[in-house]
Amino acid sequence: MQNMHAHCKICISALRLKLLNVLGSYCVFFGKFTYGLINVSNQSDREVTTLGDISKLCIIGAGFAGLTATRVFKALNYEVTLYEKDSEVGGVWAASRRYPGLTTQNTRSTYELSDFPMPSDYPEWPSGAQVQAYMHSYVINYNFSDQVHLNTEVTNTIYRPESQTWEVSTATKMADGSIKNDIQDFDYLIVGNGIFSIPSVPHYLGQEAFASAGGRLCHTSEFNNREDAKGKHVLVIGYGKSSCDVANAIAPLTASTRVIARNLIWKIPKMIANKLNYKHLFLSRMSEALFRYIRLRGMDKFFHTIGNPIRKSMLNTVEYIIEKQLGLRRLGLHPNKPLETIARSTVSLVSDGFYEAIDRGDILMHKHTEIVELMAGKARLSSGEVVPADIIVCGTGWHQRCTFLDQDVLSKVTDEEGNFRLYRSILPVDMPRLAFNGYNSSFFSQLNCEVGALWLADYLNGGFSLPSHEQQNLDIDARLAWMEARTDGKHSKGTNIIPFSIHNIDELLEDMDMNVGRFTQFFQWTGAVQPKSYGYLLPELQKKYLIT
Ligand SMILES: Cc1cc2nc3c(=O)[nH]c(=O)nc-3n(C[C@H](O)[C@H](O)[C@H](O)COP(=O)(O)OP(=O)(O)OC[C@H]3O[C@@H](n4cnc5c(N)ncnc54)[C@H](O)[C@@H]3O)c2cc1C
Ligand SMILES: NC(=O)c1ccc[n+]([C@@H]2O[C@H](COP(=O)([O-])OP(=O)(O)OC[C@H]3O[C@@H](n4cnc5c(N)ncnc54)[C@H](OP(=O)(O)O)[C@@H]3O)[C@@H](O)[C@H]2O)c1
Repeated sequence: MQNMHAHCKICISALRLKLLNVLGSYCVFFGKFTYGLINVSNQSDREVTTLGDISKLCIIGAGFAGLTATRVFKALNYEVTLYEKDSEVGGVWAASRRYPGLTTQNTRSTYELSDFPMPSDYPEWPSGAQVQAYMHSYVINYNFSDQVHLNTEVTNTIYRPESQTWEVSTATKMADGSIKNDIQDFDYLIVGNGIFSIPSVPHYLGQEAFASAGGRLCHTSEFNNREDAKGKHVLVIGYGKSSCDVANAIAPLTASTRVIARNLIWKIPKMIANKLNYKHLFLSRMSEALFRYIRLRGMDKFFHTIGNPIRKSMLNTVEYIIEKQLGLRRLGLHPNKPLETIARSTVSLVSDGFYEAIDRGDILMHKHTEIVELMAGKARLSSGEVVPADIIVCGTGWHQRCTFLDQDVLSKVTDEEGNFRLYRSILPVDMPRLAFNGYNSSFFSQLNCEVGALWLADYLNGGFSLPSHEQQNLDIDARLAWMEARTDGKHSKGTNIIPFSIHNIDELLEDMDMNVGRFTQFFQWTGAVQPKSYGYLLPELQKKYLIT
């Protein structure tokens, strides 16, 4: 009876949420007449750049960033060479980096590329292997496998200012196991090496004794075989998506599975109130407007001024539903901070059945806890407890680094704290002939990569000019300061734009004067953004620059 009562309350809240969503959408509709959705960017103080002769491009990495850049630039008749150190394309989705049970967080249709639909028989949340296969078929479909050099690591790069060229050194693993070194010159370098590509694993006191006794310490991206956990005592460190997924996948096999989390965060269920696909609420323009962007304009301004009660009410309703649905108070896993903090630097969905596994005792939670020391076959926790440990899997995040860039270049691209200083998350201000793609990761990361590549191609063809260096630096300063403040410093060295994917895409497309029309934008407020709405971009650029 009590359960039924609680269930009814959640359903009523879900209904209320849907109504608020509709109400918000009406506000958007009418707001367009009062506020105007798009501000025309200030074209004064713009710097016309002489780009010189750029035809031969080097791209590093065959994740979404590198593949979309290769596709775009090849379609615009550039000579492109992509180097990928792994034996297959895919980046985070490659077999060498997939942990057991990995699926997308985005739903299928929101994680496809604008001109290449995911197979319709893929599930709503495709597996890592399916995404990798999709990326492979993208290369085949658009016929650029000749441009992709697998098993080839970029080991060093030297910029030659006299010729404005890059000397790129590579090491290729040959079939017989030998290494072939090579050096090639290029006119332009695009870095797409991934901001979640280099694992960050803590160093623990006593880890050598732990390893000598047969213990294994690894990152989630290095834990590729579920069977390795069979019958073992496993500690999973962290409470991000990687950690919870791994704990969830191995719990049925292990002797014990413990999650050691120093902080609790909010997580979104795939189905809100077990009924509504989260994409309708969280993958739309409306959801981005719930969080305060660096500058407020259009409907964002409305939701953070006079529309604030609607915004707050929506967030409070979602918070209430999630808390009840997951039983967070009963499990002692309430983050004790508002849901709004979910958009700090990472947004996690709930791993399927994770909280139920905790409830059953299949996963043991150690909250607000860290490992202080490792010993043979065990670990001492900050709570004072000593727990058995055969394997320690760290979902402890990533380093944002470019080991192939020399110190001189790095000093022009990053600040003293290692933050990347990139205009529009793509271009360093004081370093010519260099761009980054995929450094604007969020939800829809694949689309951000694709639009990033299109923006760069348009810019290199002279399609638009950038603000002055001074103005770009001011913009970067303001953005880094804003990120620092809103994420408590956890902003992946300035490379992560969560949850503002669509804001980022709008900015890039407004520079290009090629944004989707108001009609599409309206539907992007009321429902999930569909990448296929952006499928017109590359053909438009081809029309603009190629005489066919
Ligand atoms: C496990 C996981 C799941 C994710 N799920 C989602 C999701 O559902 N939705 C979403 O929007 N975002 C998601 N993300 C964010 C994700 O990072 C992006 O979606 C996207 O796949 C990243 O693409 P990328 O090309 O920028 O980087 P990566 O996929 O990391 O690709 C970088 C590539 O560069 C290669 N490389 C690096 N250095 C060198 C070198 N020196 N020489 C040659 N090659 C090199 C690497 O081997 C790698 O293949 C996820 C991230 C992780 C870690
Ligand atoms: N498609 C998918 O299903 C999927 C899967 C995995 C990841 N992703 C995406 O990939 C990105 C990275 O996610 P992630 O889970 O790999 O990393 P993450 O979100 O950065 O989470 C790292 C976790 O490790 C903890 N941590 C970091 N350093 C630690 C230390 N020294 N000791 C103890 N704990 C430590 C952090 O705790 P604090 O909070 O205290 O810092 C946090 O809980 C996110 O954007 C995520 O959405 C998506």
